[in-house]
Amino acid sequence: YRIVCVIAARPNLMKMAPLLHAFQAPDTQVETLLVHTGQHYDADMDTQFFSTLGLSEPDFRLQVGSASHAVQTAEVMRRFEPVLEQTAPTAVLVVGDVNSTLACALTAVKQNIPVLHVEAGLRSFDRAMPEEINRLLTDQISELLFTSEASGTSNLLREGIAAHRIHFVGNVMIDTLLRQLPNAPTASAILGQANLAGFLPAGAPYALLTLHRPANVDDPQRLRALMTAMVRLSDDVPVLFPLHPRTSGMLKQYELGHLLDTPRLACLPPQSYLHMLGLMKHAAMVLTDSGGVQEETTALRVPCLTLRDNTERPVTVSEGSNAIAGRDPAVILALCRDILRYGGKAGRIPQYWDGHAAERVAAATSNWLQSRRERRP
Ligand code: UD1
Repeated sequence: YRIVCVIAARPNLMKMAPLLHAFQAPDTQVETLLVHTGQHYDADMDTQFFSTLGLSEPDFRLQVGSASHAVQTAEVMRRFEPVLEQTAPTAVLVVGDVNSTLACALTAVKQNIPVLHVEAGLRSFDRAMPEEINRLLTDQISELLFTSEASGTSNLLREGIAAHRIHFVGNVMIDTLLRQLPNAPTASAILGQANLAGFLPAGAPYALLTLHRPANVDDPQRLRALMTAMVRLSDDVPVLFPLHPRTSGMLKQYELGHLLDTPRLACLPPQSYLHMLGLMKHAAMVLTDSGGVQEETTALRVPCLTLRDNTERPVTVSEGSNAIAGRDPAVILALCRDILRYGGKAGRIPQYWDGHAAERVAAATSNWLQSRRERRP
């Protein structure tokens, strides 16, 4: 069997690494080919992750780069189609909810190639999020759907997906986290490398901030309000802020860069995976609008405030260390001060976030491949 596996943007890399590893087990009888669409392309958003995660050089690079949603999605489809013609895979495996996830899934089903979707069923119920559209549509055209939390399974059942196609396997990104955590450096080591050794005394508490959602950073009023709240938070606790390229672009475009000139707020370039793990693990709290970071802080049992009005990952709130803080600066600051005073929520680890999710994906895929062969005349 041959499975074409698709990666595109930074968070896909952490999800795909354990899957490729799990498919290498000889009893799966699967050969994988890796396709990188090139949605992310900067070294600090992409290349530097490969060696840490043990990812091999992709077999195909589509080099689509950045563009509007329509152009990016269309370019991925245009460039992915000949790869499928050339490789004739048994199935295509996609992860997550980025534009390339949907583009590759759609290209594959149009060629009658079954799609396997890992991290299926997550729903924010907010269709203004580009990822929500990608999630809904990818799931509707997938053959096997692997869910990371119970809400994913119930969402899919409600949307009419047959139960036998859905496999609750747990969280593949947490497979990577558990494998890599022993290699994560301390915050002081990371700051030392970034020439910020004096910013934080060793062991002192700090808040870690990440922001990149279009709903937060593409709107100048909202971006200004959130950043002003973070400047005020830095009076209470130093803030470390690795800047996503979308966010640094928007801060420049809206002339808000001066908000970063705050003594106790330190901007960092996009961080390597291990640095990000180290920064999260040792933080007093994490403030984020990322999906993956909500899950990683839950796995690390570090208090997380999500700077959005919803989450597609509700288990991080019902069981994990996450809380929905919304976008109102006064509410966010009050929640931060609570955490600083009382330590915040540690939560518990959700079911199957145990380091073996990718093995469950490989096992269920093998069974499915086997049963398809038996059904064939
Ligand atoms: C994409 C995903 C989002 C995911 C995020 C993780 C979609 C719709 N969005 O958002 O779900 O959470 O990746 O990071 O698929 N840029 C660079 N260098 C790069 C890549 C992007 O500078 O390597 C800049 C470009 O100006 C680009 C902008 O970032 O226009 C946005 O990139 P894009 O891939 O369109 O979306 P993200 O915001 O990264």
